[in-house]
Amino acid sequence: MKHHQYEVVIVGGGGAGLMAALYASKGASTAVISKLYPTRSHTGAAQGGVGAALGNAEEDNAEWHTYDTVKGSDYLGDQDSIEFMCKAAPEVVYELEHMGLPFSRNEDGTIAQRPFGGHTNNNTGKPVTRACYAADRTGHMILQTLYQQCIKNKVNFYDEYHVVDLLMSNGAAAGVVALELATGELHVFHAKAVIFATGGHGRVWEITSNAYAYTGDGVAITLRRGIPAEDMEFFQFHPTGIYRMGILITEGVRGEGGVLLNGDGERFMERYAPTVKDLASRDVVSRAMYLEMKAGRGINGKRYLYLDVTPDLVNHYATLDGRTRPDGRPYVTSAEEILGKLPDIIDFCHTYLGVDPVTQPMPVQPTAHYAMGGIPTNMRTEVVIDAKNKVLPGVYAAGEVACVSVHGANRLGTNSLLDLVVFGREAGVRAAEFAQGADFQPLPENPADFVRAQFDALRNGSGSEKAADIAKEMKEIMFDHVGVFRVEEGMQQAVEKIRELQERFKNVRVADEGKLYNTELLNIWELSNLLDLAEVTAVSALARKESRGAHARDDYPDRDDRKWLKHTLAWLEDGKVKLGYKPVVKTKYEPKKRVY
Ligand code: FUM
Repeated sequence: MKHHQYEVVIVGGGGAGLMAALYASKGASTAVISKLYPTRSHTGAAQGGVGAALGNAEEDNAEWHTYDTVKGSDYLGDQDSIEFMCKAAPEVVYELEHMGLPFSRNEDGTIAQRPFGGHTNNNTGKPVTRACYAADRTGHMILQTLYQQCIKNKVNFYDEYHVVDLLMSNGAAAGVVALELATGELHVFHAKAVIFATGGHGRVWEITSNAYAYTGDGVAITLRRGIPAEDMEFFQFHPTGIYRMGILITEGVRGEGGVLLNGDGERFMERYAPTVKDLASRDVVSRAMYLEMKAGRGINGKRYLYLDVTPDLVNHYATLDGRTRPDGRPYVTSAEEILGKLPDIIDFCHTYLGVDPVTQPMPVQPTAHYAMGGIPTNMRTEVVIDAKNKVLPGVYAAGEVACVSVHGANRLGTNSLLDLVVFGREAGVRAAEFAQGADFQPLPENPADFVRAQFDALRNGSGSEKAADIAKEMKEIMFDHVGVFRVEEGMQQAVEKIRELQERFKNVRVADEGKLYNTELLNIWELSNLLDLAEVTAVSALARKESRGAHARDDYPDRDDRKWLKHTLAWLEDGKVKLGYKPVVKTKYEPKKRVY
């Protein structure tokens, strides 16, 4: 077993991890440990933009952004963290610009912005242009820019090292254990501070926009070490995934004037959200799509709808809506403009569907997209471990893996990229400060024993079960019963099924007995993470008897602030989920009924 020592170790090389690394490396020896090459991280799949009230094209301000985010969260977001994020947004976007991020530009050279769901002018209620974008490759550009900065800053990278455990001593961080993919060797990284930035866990569901790597490793590792997971019942379904494949079609399509149509050719969002229509928040749009399909108004009665951005149709509805360009000219688009602003989407549709979005509508359905829940942190990104927000010294989390909580019950589009740069930076700064004032904790005796036991169990199973079958059954039951709409009976079935799958998982055996590049071993270990997260999600969802944001129950259709304006905490103890709750932080926004 090999040993390494760094003051700050960051687990995950996506946007949050790289921003954390950039800042931590200014004050401490820093390593990024990533199961992928960092530039292949899932941040690269984020398309439409990063939210910041720059007001380049029209009036906007951080307070409107804050209020929209609180409202979008269905009032479950912590308002102190939301204020902090929205206030920091313009500064951090300009920082990215100065690092060299190639944003799309307005004619006057300022950063281009487009409308996105739930972002509004708070005076008129109409959509506002707040999403700063680089065509439909914003996440890709953030990732490349930050990676270059990290290389320039001499951050140490351990690529294709899969972190499988968190080490703690004296109630504080001591490091992590990682498996090196190329050799199968276990490595111990001794650290004063550990930052988790491992992203989400959308692979729990059958149809998802998430990369294969999104297997919830950070939350699963910390759950196994007694740290709770927060608000896991809130998982966002993005309205527009490619039918059956789930691949993301950016909300930026609707920002550029695209509309959703049902099988009758009707722009149905006019009925569900009369003011912002197709640009309502994602939970509202995904539910409306389900209701349309359930009522038999899918395309040809099937379970998909059309997203149409063909210029004539866009111009027709822009005229009806009275949409104008920022300088007051009527909004009239063209095939060239659509091609220029949405090149990747057009490419995906050609490749995967044989459809040309400039002349044909795209078949779409809601797709599992984003975890609002995760490892609980305070707004300084310190991991907190109980209902009183007790800090776990030296352990930090940022980005999708964390629940800070700025997204509450439903995230607004573009706030994920914002979250990961703002709180990634915060985590890097805080972890370096912590490291400067702390000693290394002693490593536990035999630090790799806990994970060795997990891998031995996988190597020694009876082999009577196939991991692929278990994964398929988990994904289907979670999609059917812990998806866009939920009811008691379905969620109960899901909990029972996941428990049965957990039992069957004990009989899975890794067939590849080799050490080098044993991806089978790691994929099966990842499945154990997904199963744990599926169980925590289903149990947390079953307990919450209300509808709020992405958690929509047919049997409890209303939000119940009296009983349920609180965060869920879930612990995994001896293989069983234990629940607790903690209050939501409110600064000045009282919960109101959401109208779009
Ligand atoms: O639709 C999108 O481009 C996705 C953005 C996001 O999830 O923030």
